[in-house]
Amino acid sequence: MEYPQDLLNEVSEKTKSFQLEGFLGGKGPLDAVAMLVGEAPGQTELISRIPFSGQAGKELDMELKQVNLSRSDIYITSSVRSRPFKIKSKVDKTGKTINSYPNRTPTKAEVKASAPLLDYEIQTIQPKIIAPMGNIALQRLLGNAYTISTYHGQLLESPIYKISDDRSRYEKTEESYLIFPIYHPAAVLYKRSLKETVSTDWQTLVKLIREHTDKE
Ligand code: URA
Repeated sequence: MEYPQDLLNEVSEKTKSFQLEGFLGGKGPLDAVAMLVGEAPGQTELISRIPFSGQAGKELDMELKQVNLSRSDIYITSSVRSRPFKIKSKVDKTGKTINSYPNRTPTKAEVKASAPLLDYEIQTIQPKIIAPMGNIALQRLLGNAYTISTYHGQLLESPIYKISDDRSRYEKTEESYLIFPIYHPAAVLYKRSLKETVSTDWQTLVKLIREHTDKE
């Protein structure tokens, strides 16, 4: 996705005080019927320049394969477009302090500062179905009352949150969107017992995508 330079400048200015690095745009056809929204790129994604190319991406690819969907059928993006990292220090055997910078979940403030970019992607692509993957994306779009454990696998029709013109708050869009929440692919890595639920949700999602593709 090519983003307008003024939006890129704005988000980069707003996020410079956060522990974020790099930038990776969303990827996929601009006329995609469905948009998947994750959390934020990690280290692997910044190197490969491909969203979901790390461990979570392998899970995502497995689900896509099982339902016969290709990445070229969908647009994939995230709530935050830079890598959130934390600083971990440990002292090695020689007494030397070693720092590492692992990935972390983005904060609400980081999601809000990055909101103009996701809003722009939704406006540009006008997806028929938006699938927020995990709580970060779900709450970004529908608010904090929504949790993935309650709403995964349900088709919701609702206005979504976008950032206000003065960037001070979220406001609801005038138009409604079809939202199909699913677990973040990494959830299965932490809790294998979710696998079947996640696969069932993907089967429902692909049916919806096919239905809306046929209507074009
Ligand atoms: N997790 C996300 O949410 N997005 C990525 O691109 C990679 C991991």
